[in-house]
Amino acid sequence: MKTDSIAVYFQDDHTRLEAIYHEFQAVKHTDPARAAACFAEFKAGLERHIVWEEEILFPGFESRTGMRDAGPTAVMRMEHARIKQFLHDIAQKLAQHDVATDAEEAGLQQTLADHNWKEEQILYPAIDDMLPPADRHGVFARMGVATGAAR
Ligand SMILES: [Fe+2]
Ligand SMILES: [Fe+2]
Repeated sequence: MKTDSIAVYFQDDHTRLEAIYHEFQAVKHTDPARAAACFAEFKAGLERHIVWEEEILFPGFESRTGMRDAGPTAVMRMEHARIKQFLHDIAQKLAQHDVATDAEEAGLQQTLADHNWKEEQILYPAIDDMLPPADRHGVFARMGVATGAAR
């Protein structure tokens, strides 16, 4: 997929990760080993996505708006901490061959759905509007994604 839009790229990554998560849920009770592998892939992918946001994407927004400790990215950072806690809790149970993770999954899904919606509807479009193309390309370059290149 070729894009130089932050919104398109990051939304696409949400969708890609969601598909891996759904695969985890689909095989959780029938193929625990595959479920654990899927969850590990989902967790690693989402943690990388969060690092991209917190270390590369959000600082550009924060320096341009002067909003760091209060404002949308501060809320997103707090939600990331909750999301990472759910990822950790589920991974720990799966490592002990415990698939009774429905409550943690429900919490994760609710937090993530709300979080992704706010990023996709509000924050990413605002960042696209704010950053000139050269700066957007700089974001992708620092993520290790070639500008507008196929992934
Ligand atoms: Fe996020
Ligand atoms: Fe995101």
